[in-house]
Parts: sequence; structure tokens; C-alpha cells
Amino acid sequence: MNTQQKTLWGGRFSASLTSETVAFTHSIEVDTRLIRYDIWGSQVHAIMLARQGIISDTDLKEILQWLCKAEDDFQKGNFTLDPNKEDVHLNVESYIIENAGIEFGGKLHTARSRNDQVLVDAHLYIRDEILNIQRGVASLCDSFLNIAKAHVDTVMPGYTHTQHAQPISLGFWATAYISMFLRDQKRLQAAYELTNTNPLGACALAGTSFPIDRNLTTELLGFDEVQEHALDVISSRDFIAETLFALSLVMANLSRISEELIYWTTYEFGIAELDDAYSSGSSIMPQKKNADIAELTRGRTGRVYGALMDMLTNLKGLPLGYNRDFQEDKPPLWETFDIVKGCLDILPNLLRTTEFKTKRMAELVNANFATATELANYLVKEHQISFRECHEIVGWIVGELVRQEKTFLDLELTQELLKKKDIEIQIEQLKQILDAELALENNLSLGGTSPTEVNRMIERIEEQLNENAKHIYDCQTQIEEAHKETQRIVDEVLGKE
Ligand code: ARG
Repeated sequence: MNTQQKTLWGGRFSASLTSETVAFTHSIEVDTRLIRYDIWGSQVHAIMLARQGIISDTDLKEILQWLCKAEDDFQKGNFTLDPNKEDVHLNVESYIIENAGIEFGGKLHTARSRNDQVLVDAHLYIRDEILNIQRGVASLCDSFLNIAKAHVDTVMPGYTHTQHAQPISLGFWATAYISMFLRDQKRLQAAYELTNTNPLGACALAGTSFPIDRNLTTELLGFDEVQEHALDVISSRDFIAETLFALSLVMANLSRISEELIYWTTYEFGIAELDDAYSSGSSIMPQKKNADIAELTRGRTGRVYGALMDMLTNLKGLPLGYNRDFQEDKPPLWETFDIVKGCLDILPNLLRTTEFKTKRMAELVNANFATATELANYLVKEHQISFRECHEIVGWIVGELVRQEKTFLDLELTQELLKKKDIEIQIEQLKQILDAELALENNLSLGGTSPTEVNRMIERIEEQLNENAKHIYDCQTQIEEAHKETQRIVDEVLGKE
């Protein structure tokens, strides 16, 4: 075929497209990811047309035979998309027409439009990618779980305003991230549910007068339900915005871990060290060991947010029906999938191999008054002073110690300062009150830092992770079963075993 060939929609046109029109409008690079899905969608559509008596069994056989060949050729690298045919849909349809002849191949597009077809492809592809990402998030949670289990009572400073706040455990820190990612899983699941609905049969925007069976195509494509309203179907890309929003928050969370690892591995903090295999050096400074993976994760987050803004902006001015603007939904979304999957491929291993410096954590937690709140709480409980007054007293003591360049580790001085406020506490008792490990243990309130609570939360988290894994498995199975059933019908029609 030469480049001046007629397009499949060329009937009302008297001139061929200029090469710049072709170059400007085609979506071939992006659409390559959709070929397999476009073929599956076409197989199912053709099967439905034949079952409904809209095309004959002979038509179906011809169409399915060449759809299978197209898939085969694609796998072997013999079917590449041609920009002159604009997009994946016209490429696949042309392939069938060219090989089966227009008398057969020309029937595939009965009761269908590229407007519902592009949505079928997108729904099928996006749901696969959401599941891939959910698996990545689960693997990251596993890495955090290992850290949590090993460090339920490893004391470290907890921070607010990036200043020492109160003692926490490393396990408490790790389970916080798992709790965040479990919410990401919920959001991804919600996006999956919106995505796993069937747009096929909405046609151009108005449905069709052919007696199509949308329930059959829903079943054979493994969707949960029909997305009914034809005009709404064609106009909607909110499932993409929803997916991008869920992925933006995944990236926000990945970026926050990255940020913490970046400064935890600085000389100043020194509470973690990355494995050499997950770090980078400098071309000039021989001593450098940098957290490049974490920095790239943090740096790529903006691109994902950009994709979300892009989609939202695309949608805001569009009248109902198909608008070619929609074609622009794909490149940022594809890039987002690649970025998020890339981060989720490497971060679980990076975490698994990171060494946490527990001695340094203990040193830090005692160095800067992290147990001041415990002292105030003790005064409330044992000396019947209101919390606000205790806060004032302990604040004054801390101020004095700071001025004298001392810490709570100087128990005698602390005791003396308390005495000035008419409070008598024995040294042994004071030691206990200001002990970071005891402070950790005493926070037994629901969701608190105590190992008892952290262990309880770990159990709960494990249950949720298992439920999640089962859900991902069930979704995957539903997809695979539907694909198998489609292929069984195809084989049956083609007289294969
Ligand atoms: N390639 C288009 C897209 O990605 C779908 C085709 C619909 N095009 C059309 N002119 N009706 O959105």
C-alpha cells in the first residue's frame, strides 16, 4: 500500500490526507500497547454479532481466522501498526479486510464504532495495569512488614516538624507506611471497579438498531457489568482520572518514603544505610554514596501529578459525545503506569536491603528531650497537677538544661530542677520516667507505639494483606477465565481442538 491510500472512512472525501495531517493525527506509538486488547474486543464483538444473527457463521469464521492470524503476526513482529491507518482500530480492521476480503472483513465494524472500541481497549488494558500496580504495592508492604516484625521494640525518635518529638519504634514507623499503602490499595480497587465495566455496544454515542447483546460481550471480556448509558459511556474518561488520582497518591507515598530515606542516610542522621547495589557514586568525589533511586522516585512524582492535571484539564471543556481530545488521555497515562511500576519494582528490594542503624537511633532518641511529654504525664498522674501546668514546668526544666548544655541524661541536675518546683522524684524513678523504651511500652492506647499495639496491628495488617492478595487473584482469574472462554469459542468456530 502506498502512503496515499484511501482511509477506511474515505467515502465522503475527494482528497487523500497530506502527510502532515497523518503525522499530526495518528496515535500509533501509543496504540501499540492496545493491539492484543483490540483483537480480543474484536473477537468478542464478532462472536456476539454471529450469535445474534447479525452476521453469518461463515462471516464469523473468516473474521476470527484473520483476527487470530493478526495476533500471531503481532507476536512474531510481523504486524506493526501503520500511521497511515491512524490508530490501532483501523489497522486491525484493515488487516482483516485486506486478508479476508471486504465481503467478510467489512462486516466486523457492524454495530460498533471506534468511539466504544477505544474505550474497550482502554478498559481492558488499564484494569491489567491496575492489578500489576496492586501487586507492586503488595510487595512493598511485604518489605515494610519484615522491617516491622524485626523492630517492634527498636526505639528511635519520632518527629514532628522534623524535630525530635516522642520515642517511637522502627516497627511503628514501618507499619505506618503499610497502613498508608493499604488505603492506596482501596483507592486502586475503587478505580478498578470503575474500569471493569463494559463500554462495548455504546457504538458512536447513541446505541444501535442492530439487536446486539451487551451482556454476552460483558461476560466474554470478563467485565463486572455493562456500562449502560451510551452517551455517558462515550463521553466518560473519569475512570482514567480516578486511576491517575489513585496513582498520584501512590507516588506521593513513595516520594515520602524516598524523602525519609534520603535524609536518614545522611551523615547527620546516620540512621540507615543503603545497600551498595541500590546506591550511586560520584564521578569526581570518591567518597560519595548517594540515594539516587529515592531521589528519582521523588523526582518522577511530579510527572504523575502532571498526568492527572492533564486529564482533568482535558475533560473540563468537553461537550458530551466523542471529541478527539480524548486521544490525548493515553500518553500521560501510559507514562504514569511505567513510572509507578518502575518505582514499585525497585523500592521493595531497596528497602529489603537497607540497614537500619539501631544504635544510632537509640543515641538520638536520648539526646534531645524526646521523653519530655512522659515527664509531664507523670506529674499529671502522680502529683495531681493540671497538664497545662506540668507542660510549663517541664518546659522550664528543658530550657534550663539546654542553657546549661545538658540533657535528661543528667539525672541529678534534672532532679534538682524539679525540686525548685517543689517536686520530689527519686533518681531511680526519674530514670524510669525518662527511659525511651519504657515510654514506648507505656503508649498502650489503641494504635499507639507500644509493642503490644504494634504486634496487634501487624496481625490486623496481615489479614488485610491476605484479603488484598485474594482480591487481586480473583480479579486476575476472572480476566483469565473470560479470555480462555473467548479462545475456546474461537477454536470451536475455527474447528480447532
Ligand atoms: N484513536 C482515537 C482515540 O484514541 C479513537 C478513535 C475515535 N476517533 C474518531 N475520530 N472517532 O481516542
